[in-house]
Amino acid sequence: MTTRSKTSCMRFTMLTALSLWQTTAVSWAAPTSKSNLPRNTKTQLVSVDQEVEVLLTRMTLSEKIGQMTQVEKEAISANPDDIRRFGIGSILSGGGQAPTPNKKEAWADMTDGFQRIALSSRLGIPLIYGIDAIHGHNNLKDTVIFPHFIGLGATRDTDLVTAIAKATAKELAATGIQWNFAPSASLPQDLRWGRVYEAFSEDTDLVATLDVAYINGLQGDGLSELAHTNGPPKAQVLATSKHFIGDGATEFGTGRDNLVDRGDARIDEATLRQLHLPPYRAAIAAGVETIMVSYSSWQGVKMHASRYLLTDLLKGELGFKGFLISDWKALDEMGSHERENIKTAILAGLDMVMVPTRYESFISNLEALVQAGEVPMERIDDAVRRILRVKMRLGLFSQPFADRSLMSAVASTEHRQLARTAAARSQVLLKNEQNLLPLAKTTDTLLIAGEGADDIGLQCGGWSIEWQGGRGHLTSGVSLLEGIRTAVSPSTQVTYVRDGAYSGPKVPVGIAVVAETPYAEFHGDVTAPILRPEDQAMLTKMRAASERLVVIVLSGRPMLMSEAIADADAVVAAFLPGSEGGGVADVLFGDLPFSGTLSFAWPRNEEGLVRSKRNASNTLYPFGYGLKTTKLLRTSERDSKADHQILR
Ligand code: BGC
Ligand code: BGC
Repeated sequence: MTTRSKTSCMRFTMLTALSLWQTTAVSWAAPTSKSNLPRNTKTQLVSVDQEVEVLLTRMTLSEKIGQMTQVEKEAISANPDDIRRFGIGSILSGGGQAPTPNKKEAWADMTDGFQRIALSSRLGIPLIYGIDAIHGHNNLKDTVIFPHFIGLGATRDTDLVTAIAKATAKELAATGIQWNFAPSASLPQDLRWGRVYEAFSEDTDLVATLDVAYINGLQGDGLSELAHTNGPPKAQVLATSKHFIGDGATEFGTGRDNLVDRGDARIDEATLRQLHLPPYRAAIAAGVETIMVSYSSWQGVKMHASRYLLTDLLKGELGFKGFLISDWKALDEMGSHERENIKTAILAGLDMVMVPTRYESFISNLEALVQAGEVPMERIDDAVRRILRVKMRLGLFSQPFADRSLMSAVASTEHRQLARTAAARSQVLLKNEQNLLPLAKTTDTLLIAGEGADDIGLQCGGWSIEWQGGRGHLTSGVSLLEGIRTAVSPSTQVTYVRDGAYSGPKVPVGIAVVAETPYAEFHGDVTAPILRPEDQAMLTKMRAASERLVVIVLSGRPMLMSEAIADADAVVAAFLPGSEGGGVADVLFGDLPFSGTLSFAWPRNEEGLVRSKRNASNTLYPFGYGLKTTKLLRTSERDSKADHQILR
């Protein structure tokens, strides 16, 4: 039989199957409101796997490829009916992609709008909407921004991480988003990489432990094995482990612009397995159902092309039953020939492609590849089976819409309080001469300087409202300065001089805040993470103006600043604490103790930037370092445990 006649024969069988489908089961696939959710007791007892097989036999090739296609919301918004036309399986918001206005109700309306179109397609298979909510629902304006993972790594607190993931899941579910591209399973080995802060740690065990805690928070009790369980709405959001594998191991000089990101991990297999695989193993055991493939390469082979790692290792050896998603436009980075790239990636084992803009050409190329016999139908079926299985087990077929009953959780007081606690617990005290910290709330005067002291954008970092983050009041929150002003007694005179040019008499205590300019991904790759010249100048002025100087470092990674540290009396690594600057004030003034410990070693000089080259002489503070203080006040409602216990 020629390929063409094989295909038409297949189509014929599917059409016959379709009529069967329409008379028996199509109603459950297209619920329009909670009231007409499927109630067919017969189908409720059917296992997900059986249900998926039934659905699969009813799908055309193009419907199957539609399920394997993830488009970005901006692209699809131009022609929303393409969702129905191509049976698109998934939509994402890339960094900074929000509806107008950027408000929670508009998010729910947008995702529900897309969903309604999907449900009106021939088979009515629901869409799954994905996003990077990597420190809270961070594309939604005015909601809570939690500390970036590097800071959560410093807390070593699995309960806190679970509580944050749970809070994030609620906010996502309220706005119709069922899939979070988190937690990162990266192990950054080079501090020049722009994605250090996205990782909990450089340490394998710590990353694996906190990944599991985060996955548990997002996915709650885990996905169901029964199709169509119509229980009460639950804030369950699909987690993603990313970026498989060795994204943090790329060698300086091999990446984009000859830097680190998207480069080549030139490590042997034993190292890859020992250092970088355990978080994936742990995540799979904890029930992770999607894994995002890395832009990077291993030993010169792009991860998206590695059948050995994607299929043999992950799906074979590790028994991963979920589906693999590509990274954003990652196939375009594999070579100049689009059709070849698609073929290589799908044959390597990729199941869903984050296309995300030129979806028509992706769909027609993959269809042609299958028709030409270059990509076997079994591979397509395997991919679609995996995707549908996850969608069904997540309960999407019965609960496809935003769960607006959770709307009040968005930016709630509890979530703000949780973020404040997390900010406090993520602070690492690096230096504290003569126990300068905690400061007394009753000091007469306080001099504060630095752009970062009064800038929500700088304290949130990248992936905040915009992909790259931003400066200033980009979302609501409490700046460090505001947090300090609230913490001290009304009689304390707080003076803020942005650039540190203070001409009054020397103050007993000055607080200088240095900050990295926000960045995400390759935009944050540097040849050396050093202080900005304006911060350096500010520090010099503040040193001269203050008897004793506290330096607070807002950064996505340990910085090369040994001299500045030597010059200061106290130094706090604040990382990127998020929207609740009050948490930083809590530890500065002793409402909560300093308890964080470094999740990355802090280098003394450039040689200490790469983990494998690190030794006692090029390291300033080792992994796990952090001075402790005690609480000064014990007001029970500010007790750290109590704060997040309520949310568990
Ligand atoms: C990043 C991923 C992210 C994706 C979608 C990519 O550029 O590498 O981490 O999930 O974009 O925004
Ligand atoms: C998107 C991000 C994505 C990046 C990849 C941006 O335009 O907003 O989500 O990670 O592209 O380069």
